[in-house]
Amino acid sequence: MNEHFIFAGHDTVALAKKFGTPLYVISENKIIEAIDLIKKSFEEYGLDYDINYAGKAFTNIAMVKIIKQQGISLDTVSGGEIYTALKAGLDPKRICFHGSNKSAQEIREAIEAGVGVITIDSFYEIGLVGRIAKELETVQNVHFRVSPGVEAHTHEYIQTGRIDSKFGIPVNMAVRAARMIIDEEYLNLTGVHCHIGSDISSPKPFEIAATTMLEIVYNIKEMGVEIEALNLGGGFGINYLHDDPVFDVEEYVHTISKIIRKQCDILGIKIPKIIVEPGRYIIGPAGITLYSIGTIKEIPYLRKYISVDGGMADNPRPALYGAIYHAVIANKYNKEANELYTVSGKCCETDMLIKDILLPQAAPGDILAVLNTGAYNYSMASHYNRLQSPPVVLLKDDKAELMVKKDTYENLIQNDVVPSWLED
Ligand SMILES: Cc1ncc(COP(=O)(O)O)c(C=O)c1O
Repeated sequence: MNEHFIFAGHDTVALAKKFGTPLYVISENKIIEAIDLIKKSFEEYGLDYDINYAGKAFTNIAMVKIIKQQGISLDTVSGGEIYTALKAGLDPKRICFHGSNKSAQEIREAIEAGVGVITIDSFYEIGLVGRIAKELETVQNVHFRVSPGVEAHTHEYIQTGRIDSKFGIPVNMAVRAARMIIDEEYLNLTGVHCHIGSDISSPKPFEIAATTMLEIVYNIKEMGVEIEALNLGGGFGINYLHDDPVFDVEEYVHTISKIIRKQCDILGIKIPKIIVEPGRYIIGPAGITLYSIGTIKEIPYLRKYISVDGGMADNPRPALYGAIYHAVIANKYNKEANELYTVSGKCCETDMLIKDILLPQAAPGDILAVLNTGAYNYSMASHYNRLQSPPVVLLKDDKAELMVKKDTYENLIQNDVVPSWLED
């Protein structure tokens, strides 16, 4: 029996040996499987749709090329993400530019690049985007983000659909915002958007959000403008642990398509194109992180710590908001997991990656594979403690090649400059 943990058909111990640790591993096949499942569900229920992959979850040039090959669109939130997408050769029309505080410079760059949609996030942005579009003499397609007041059951810090949120225009002000956008000479209002939170397991909150958003679409139609697209955001949950509730994408599409058809019929409006913006669902399960175990510290009767060669610098989520992960010892995959451990990183913080986990007896040099790390790990990583960011390896069928190189020490100092008074 193979003692090694196999991920997407690859021996993870061999990957660790070849590319070193810590190492992010991404499976292109798993990304495509997730995208296909969403596409299949929409096609089954006959809705006109688009998928905007939320780049904030994980973006780099190779990732955008995958998005491009899959024929889907990209949700971006910064000049840097747009730049990456353009460098990867994505059609700018496939880019949607979000963000709660876009700078004038970013807006200008986005319009000049010809992005498909800018999603306006506030009253302030209506004037700002309108003014810049006018200066550039470019009519820009825009959506606007509404906070529909739906509370999704997830961790508080990642709830973004509530009224008390920095994101979006409160639902009771949506009509006013629409009026102001319509009155802007160089803005073309084509859609409305909401995003109600992250890692949501039930379709119910999306159903409520869709109902609220269609009322806004109706109110806008009353102003003489027919909305083409309803963007229901991302937030599809994944199973970080075996017993986490399962988000069923087919059930989600079934639920929203039923309510959308019914409401559009009642309100007498055309069924809009439905846009979804999942990040985590597409990339989360497609990624793992491989670490080498170093120090093992046992505090008798209290706790056994194992330390790995990464930590909060490559995965800040447990430290930021108590995110929970599962892991296995890749080189002892079929051994009984009967020792209780706490997995910590090497940063100068109590950077616990996993508080309590049963693993086989661990030893220095073992390879720990932390699962479901594809989303918001690489993209949220830092150089805390001047740690070098791990490389990212992409798997496709039996191939494994780098999509991001490992940082060098040189990279760490490349932007350092010495003020004149400190020069030697
Ligand atoms: C506007 C918007 N869309 C999509 C997403 C992606 O969320 P998830 O990765 O949970 O699908 C986010 C996440 O914060 C978001 O703010």
